[in-house]
Amino acid sequence: MAQKIIIDTDPGQDDAVAILLALASPELEVLGLVAVAGNVPLALTEVNARKIIELSGRTDVPVFAGCDRPLARDLVTAEHVHGKTGLDGIELPVPTLPLQAQHGVDFIIDTLRREPAGSVTLVPIGPLTNIAEAFRRAPDIIARVQRIVLMGGAYFEVGNITPAAEFNIYVDPEAAAEVFASGVPLVVMPLDVTHKALTSREWVEAMRALPGRCGPAVAGWTDFFERFDTAKYGSLGAPLHDPCTIAWLLQPDLFQGREINVEIETQGRWTTGMTVADWWRVSGRAPNALFLGDVDRDGLFDLIRHRIARLP
Ligand code: BDR
Ligand code: CA
Repeated sequence: MAQKIIIDTDPGQDDAVAILLALASPELEVLGLVAVAGNVPLALTEVNARKIIELSGRTDVPVFAGCDRPLARDLVTAEHVHGKTGLDGIELPVPTLPLQAQHGVDFIIDTLRREPAGSVTLVPIGPLTNIAEAFRRAPDIIARVQRIVLMGGAYFEVGNITPAAEFNIYVDPEAAAEVFASGVPLVVMPLDVTHKALTSREWVEAMRALPGRCGPAVAGWTDFFERFDTAKYGSLGAPLHDPCTIAWLLQPDLFQGREINVEIETQGRWTTGMTVADWWRVSGRAPNALFLGDVDRDGLFDLIRHRIARLP
């Protein structure tokens, strides 16, 4: 039976690749996409989510809008990385797929109450606002979540939005702190991994050469996304942060990490949003996450290419 997942997302070119990877994979049943404010405001992320669904041809997958701002702070966005629309790089038509009327947080709550306990995995690839809000409103669902596989945080790579913090955690550190303290089994895909998941020119051109429309779309997105990291880090290639979460669900042996304690800094003068990851196990605090540290890069990119080749 396929693994049931809900993808909570702020698309985002790398979110888009993650969503396509999930939709192309029969091992996963995507129950819905829930948009959150992050890379760009919610009004754009929910439209982008619907565009991606239409591109994939999987209009049976419902799209919901969740929270439009962090729990306790003003929204910080990342147009400097993702462009004005959040999904710059290719032109996609205005979607005709309707947005679901139900609030995304209520969808998460209802789904977890309806499905058998322990059968639904949450995959947040944006700020953790919707997940924390769902846990606040309905604490009974926390024990029903199978696990959370999230993109966020950094330890050896430190920060990308501040010197200390990774973007998804920084945008809503209060939400992240609540999720990390929830007791739900966590799989954390930090920058330590995703900065190794850089596209190569050969891979991008192989995607562009795929016969359908999704491969060329991925090439267009990653071309756009690449320019920022090339300028900032001097690296060649675009980091496919968010697809690493879906790849872990499909092929966990591509990744290596440690079961450790991870706490979220919410009070720091300079370090708000930092994931204080006890990689060396010096704190004595109980592990609360599988914190990944390494990836088989070639295996990851082969997986993504083969799967997206199945899409129209
Ligand atoms: C994360 O932030 C966003 O810009 C990306 O989509 C990814 O989820 C990387 O820090
Ligand atoms: Ca994202």
